[in-house]
Amino acid sequence: MSRKIRKAVLPVAGLGTRFLPATKTVPKEMLTVVDRPILQHVVDEARAAGVEHFIFVTGRNKSVIEDHFDNAYELEDTLRRRGKMKELEALMSDLPGAGNCSFTRQQAPLGLGHAVWCARELVGDEPFAVLLPDMVTMGGASKSQCLAQCVEAYAKHGGNVIAVEQVPAEETHQYGVVAVGKDHGRDFEITGMVEKPAKGTAPSNLIISGRYILQPEIFDILGTVEKGAGGEIQLTDGMKALSSRQSFHGVRFDGRTYDCGSKIGFLAANLAFALERPELADALRAEARKLGL
Ligand code: G1P
Repeated sequence: MSRKIRKAVLPVAGLGTRFLPATKTVPKEMLTVVDRPILQHVVDEARAAGVEHFIFVTGRNKSVIEDHFDNAYELEDTLRRRGKMKELEALMSDLPGAGNCSFTRQQAPLGLGHAVWCARELVGDEPFAVLLPDMVTMGGASKSQCLAQCVEAYAKHGGNVIAVEQVPAEETHQYGVVAVGKDHGRDFEITGMVEKPAKGTAPSNLIISGRYILQPEIFDILGTVEKGAGGEIQLTDGMKALSSRQSFHGVRFDGRTYDCGSKIGFLAANLAFALERPELADALRAEARKLGL
């Protein structure tokens, strides 16, 4: 039987240069999709998949992330005294339990593979999830979220699991791309991986979309892997090396990803999540009509 996925690594050390000046003092992960920080959406997704412990790989300038996942005594006390119990309960239910968050710093921006490697002591010797907070996902018709769907595939296949999604062929060079082996429909065996393939060379148009379940053997590999695309230590290169010894399956998950690392993805996420909120949807549509949309 596969071991339960209890821990998730969230790499949040990036500088957010694509969102300046907004990210000069506010970490990009704390920008909001409607009224929740991007990172809260991602933590919610992990909790819905059964994750109990959250490991944030942070950097300088990111301390508000730690504050966000802590009690805010003055605020909670004021809400209590003013009888705003609904707001108070909502705040409290967003918080992971005591001792369920760990923070470690990636001291230099050496790449995603290096960021994940920085979590090795905190993860220890058990399989774990990785969620890239740039990607905010919304469950499809099943309403089950992306990481929960990965956990389902992991229960079936064991080994390592990666969520993938289809993009137009001309966009594949911006991502990690997988090659498809034995295909079971929604999930399939991965037979190859390449990070940021040169235009026209991608093995498929299925991109790695920022949710992973990995075995702890990845850490030794990440400790020695050479720099890859963009001169960075790439998680994809580490996974490719591990795939010679362990299975990797891809999951074409039911739902959508919004790449909040790009302005258009971030704006689209705000629209999509607001339209899911009954108290906002009609008013937002009315505003959009006023703009001629
Ligand atoms: C990272 C991964 C890449 C993945 C992408 C998803 O790239 O290295 O494999 O497809 O996230 O957003 P980055 O966005 O850091 O360039």
